[in-house]
Amino acid sequence: MRIPIKIWQRFVLLLVFTLSLTRKGAGEPANERGATEFHDKGCLQCHAIGGIGGHKGPDLSGVGRRKNKNALRQQILEGSGAMPAFREALTGDEVEELVRYLQHCRAKPPRQVAPQLSVQ
Ligand code: HEC
Repeated sequence: MRIPIKIWQRFVLLLVFTLSLTRKGAGEPANERGATEFHDKGCLQCHAIGGIGGHKGPDLSGVGRRKNKNALRQQILEGSGAMPAFREALTGDEVEELVRYLQHCRAKPPRQVAPQLSVQ
Protein backbone atom coordinates (compact mmCIF):
# COMPACT_ATOMS: atom_id res chain seq x y z
CA MET A 1 0.00 0.00 0.00
CA ARG A 2 1.33 3.45 -0.87
CA ILE A 3 1.27 6.07 1.82
CA PRO A 4 -0.05 9.37 0.46
CA ILE A 5 2.51 12.17 0.30
CA LYS A 6 0.40 14.40 2.56
CA ILE A 7 0.73 11.91 5.39
CA TRP A 8 4.48 11.78 4.89
CA GLN A 9 4.67 15.55 5.01
CA ARG A 10 2.77 15.64 8.28
CA PHE A 11 4.96 12.94 9.72
CA VAL A 12 8.14 14.80 8.84
CA LEU A 13 6.78 18.08 10.21
CA LEU A 14 5.84 16.38 13.46
CA LEU A 15 9.28 14.83 13.71
CA VAL A 16 11.05 18.13 13.14
CA PHE A 17 8.80 19.81 15.66
CA THR A 18 9.42 17.15 18.32
CA LEU A 19 13.16 17.32 17.76
CA SER A 20 13.15 21.10 18.12
CA LEU A 21 11.34 20.76 21.45
CA THR A 22 13.75 18.22 22.89
CA ARG A 23 16.76 20.28 21.78
CA LYS A 24 15.61 23.33 23.68
CA GLY A 25 15.13 21.45 26.92
CA ALA A 26 18.25 19.34 26.90
CA GLY A 27 20.99 21.58 25.65
CA GLU A 28 20.46 25.11 24.51
CA PRO A 29 23.47 25.76 22.24
CA ALA A 30 26.24 27.37 24.23
CA ASN A 31 26.39 30.51 22.17
CA GLU A 32 22.71 31.10 22.85
CA ARG A 33 23.39 30.83 26.56
CA GLY A 34 26.19 33.33 26.02
CA ALA A 35 23.77 35.72 24.38
CA THR A 36 21.47 35.44 27.37
CA GLU A 37 24.35 36.12 29.73
CA PHE A 38 25.49 39.05 27.66
CA HIS A 39 22.12 40.53 28.50
CA ASP A 40 21.74 39.30 32.08
CA LYS A 41 25.24 40.21 33.30
CA GLY A 42 24.98 43.78 32.09
CA CYS A 43 27.40 43.65 29.13
CA LEU A 44 24.64 45.01 26.93
CA GLN A 45 24.45 48.19 28.97
CA CYS A 46 27.85 49.23 27.66
CA HIS A 47 28.20 47.25 24.44
CA ALA A 48 25.99 47.03 21.39
CA ILE A 49 25.77 43.96 19.18
CA GLY A 50 23.83 44.16 15.95
CA GLY A 51 22.65 47.69 16.71
CA ILE A 52 21.19 46.91 20.17
CA GLY A 53 22.87 47.98 23.40
CA GLY A 54 24.83 50.78 25.02
CA HIS A 55 27.78 52.78 23.78
CA LYS A 56 30.07 53.24 26.78
CA GLY A 57 32.21 50.46 25.36
CA PRO A 58 33.03 49.53 21.77
CA ASP A 59 30.45 47.88 19.50
CA LEU A 60 31.08 44.12 19.63
CA SER A 61 29.22 43.07 16.48
CA GLY A 62 32.47 42.04 14.83
CA VAL A 63 34.63 41.36 17.89
CA GLY A 64 35.12 37.69 16.91
CA ARG A 65 37.19 38.92 13.97
CA ARG A 66 39.36 41.21 16.06
CA LYS A 67 40.04 39.12 19.14
CA ASN A 68 40.77 35.44 19.69
CA LYS A 69 39.47 33.25 22.50
CA ASN A 70 42.25 34.06 24.93
CA ALA A 71 42.03 37.80 24.39
CA LEU A 72 38.25 37.70 24.85
CA ARG A 73 38.56 35.65 28.04
CA GLN A 74 41.20 37.97 29.44
CA GLN A 75 39.12 41.05 28.67
CA ILE A 76 36.13 39.59 30.50
CA LEU A 77 38.11 38.36 33.51
CA GLU A 78 40.31 41.39 33.96
CA GLY A 79 38.54 44.28 32.23
CA SER A 80 40.54 47.26 31.03
CA GLY A 81 40.11 51.01 30.79
CA ALA A 82 36.52 51.82 31.73
CA MET A 83 35.45 48.16 31.74
CA PRO A 84 35.28 46.49 35.15
CA ALA A 85 36.75 43.04 35.74
CA PHE A 86 34.13 40.28 35.81
CA ARG A 87 36.30 37.63 37.47
CA GLU A 88 34.30 37.76 40.69
CA ALA A 89 30.89 38.12 39.05
CA LEU A 90 30.90 35.12 36.70
CA THR A 91 31.41 31.38 37.01
CA GLY A 92 33.95 29.65 34.80
CA ASP A 93 31.17 28.24 32.64
CA GLU A 94 29.58 31.63 32.19
CA VAL A 95 32.88 33.09 31.05
CA GLU A 96 33.35 30.28 28.51
CA GLU A 97 29.82 30.72 27.20
CA LEU A 98 30.36 34.45 26.77
CA VAL A 99 33.64 33.81 24.99
CA ARG A 100 31.98 31.34 22.64
CA TYR A 101 29.16 33.76 21.93
CA LEU A 102 31.53 36.63 21.21
CA GLN A 103 33.60 34.43 18.93
CA HIS A 104 30.49 34.05 16.80
CA CYS A 105 30.03 37.80 16.54
CA ARG A 106 31.73 38.28 13.21
CA ALA A 107 29.73 40.94 11.46
CA LYS A 108 31.70 42.81 8.86
CA PRO A 109 31.82 46.58 9.17
CA PRO A 110 29.16 48.19 6.95
CA ARG A 111 30.20 48.48 3.36
CA GLN A 112 30.85 51.86 1.95
CA VAL A 113 27.80 52.96 0.09
CA ALA A 114 29.55 54.97 -2.56
CA PRO A 115 32.98 54.28 -4.03
CA GLN A 116 35.54 56.63 -2.62
CA LEU A 117 36.66 59.37 -4.92
CA SER A 118 40.38 59.68 -4.83
CA VAL A 119 41.46 63.08 -5.95
CA GLN A 120 45.17 63.28 -6.29
C1 HEC B 1 30.70 49.80 32.43
C2 HEC B 1 30.69 49.50 31.00
C3 HEC B 1 31.08 48.10 30.55
C4 HEC B 1 30.51 46.89 30.92
C5 HEC B 1 29.41 46.63 31.94
C6 HEC B 1 31.16 45.89 30.11
N1 HEC B 1 32.11 46.46 29.31
FE1 HEC B 1 33.27 45.50 27.94
N2 HEC B 1 34.27 47.24 27.55
C7 HEC B 1 33.95 48.48 28.08
C8 HEC B 1 34.93 49.46 27.62
C9 HEC B 1 34.94 50.94 28.00
C10 HEC B 1 35.84 48.75 26.80
C11 HEC B 1 37.11 49.30 26.14
C12 HEC B 1 38.24 49.01 27.10
C13 HEC B 1 39.54 49.66 26.75
O1 HEC B 1 39.55 50.66 26.06
O2 HEC B 1 40.58 49.14 27.22
C14 HEC B 1 35.38 47.37 26.75
C15 HEC B 1 35.98 46.37 26.00
C16 HEC B 1 35.47 45.10 25.84
C17 HEC B 1 35.97 44.11 24.91
C18 HEC B 1 37.11 44.30 23.90
C19 HEC B 1 36.50 44.98 22.70
C20 HEC B 1 37.40 45.16 21.50
O3 HEC B 1 36.91 45.70 20.52
O4 HEC B 1 38.57 44.80 21.57
C21 HEC B 1 35.21 42.99 25.06
C22 HEC B 1 35.34 41.67 24.32
C23 HEC B 1 34.24 43.27 26.11
N3 HEC B 1 34.41 44.55 26.54
C24 HEC B 1 33.30 42.35 26.56
C25 HEC B 1 32.43 42.61 27.62
C26 HEC B 1 31.58 41.60 28.22
C27 HEC B 1 31.46 40.16 27.75
C28 HEC B 1 30.92 42.20 29.24
C29 HEC B 1 29.93 41.57 30.22
C30 HEC B 1 30.45 40.48 31.02
C31 HEC B 1 31.34 43.59 29.28
N4 HEC B 1 32.26 43.79 28.29
C32 HEC B 1 30.86 44.54 30.17
C33 HEC B 1 32.90 48.76 28.93
C34 HEC B 1 32.09 47.81 29.54
